[in-house]
Amino acid sequence: MRLSGKVAVVSGAGTFGGSGVGNGAAAAILFARNGARVALIDAVGEWAEATARIIEEERGEAVALAADATNPDDCQRAVDAAVERFGNLHILHNNVGGGGGGGNVVEATDEDWFRSASVNLMSMVNMCRYAVPHMKTAGGGSIVNISSVTALRPKPGRSSAQYTVNKSAVVGLTRAMALDHAKDNIRVNCIMPGLMWTPRLEHSSAEAREMRSNSTPLPIEGQSWDIGNAALFLASDEARFITGVTLPVDGGFLLTSAPN
Ligand SMILES: NC(=O)c1ccc[n+]([C@@H]2O[C@H](COP(=O)([O-])OP(=O)(O)OC[C@H]3O[C@@H](n4cnc5c(N)ncnc54)[C@H](O)[C@@H]3O)[C@@H](O)[C@H]2O)c1
Repeated sequence: MRLSGKVAVVSGAGTFGGSGVGNGAAAAILFARNGARVALIDAVGEWAEATARIIEEERGEAVALAADATNPDDCQRAVDAAVERFGNLHILHNNVGGGGGGGNVVEATDEDWFRSASVNLMSMVNMCRYAVPHMKTAGGGSIVNISSVTALRPKPGRSSAQYTVNKSAVVGLTRAMALDHAKDNIRVNCIMPGLMWTPRLEHSSAEAREMRSNSTPLPIEGQSWDIGNAALFLASDEARFITGVTLPVDGGFLLTSAPN
């Protein structure tokens, strides 16, 4: 019960398609298993409710809240609803993010760039803006932001430039916020997932799955639970002296050179 007595908000706490367990849902479930009461925010209400059902079946405490993290008003409403329900706020897990496409700088439109910034960066800024004051009231807190190994190792293709830039910005946001809010005992850290197998990829071919899995030095496949367990550690008091770090959870992917 490493989060006993804590209240957590997880954005993107549903799972794409509504079944299985994505990165955000895994973190939320592990938070609840460790004693936290968890507010599950997702743009798709039913997907948040599916995570709530998993937590409640395990006798954990959760509330599902439909909100779009790219919309500041939605974020304020959801954060306030979580605090009204559970009385406090100690942990914010910012999991919303995604590829998006659009192409390289010659091909992508302003709209493509703004959309990617909105989903990958502003979703986190919006959530932090409304969560930090509650954490100050609670005497401190822990924020975990989800970046990607793509920030350090861009991949060629449609979504590379925008996703890479904005997932890099998540690292910058983490470091700046860690300094800004340290005096209030609010820690801000970042996880860099590698090539994880999450339900969003269920439609991919068996070959694509094998290729992803084989591209990490460790001979195992990364799963949502690996991200959830890292988030659990960073959210817990075991990480009380850790702030501003970026933790790759990638099976050693970043140790290898970029493919030709
Ligand atoms: N899967 C991977 O291999 C991988 C690798 C690196 C980084 N990541 C990052 O991990 C995070 C989660 O990835 P995933 O594949 O588990 O999740 P996902 O893409 O399945 O999405 C999780 C949930 O986020 C919700 N969501 C999306 N946009 C939202 C918004 N604007 N407001 C509220 N909710 C929203 C979705 O409805 C979904 O339920 C993302 O930030 C992603 O960039 C994933």
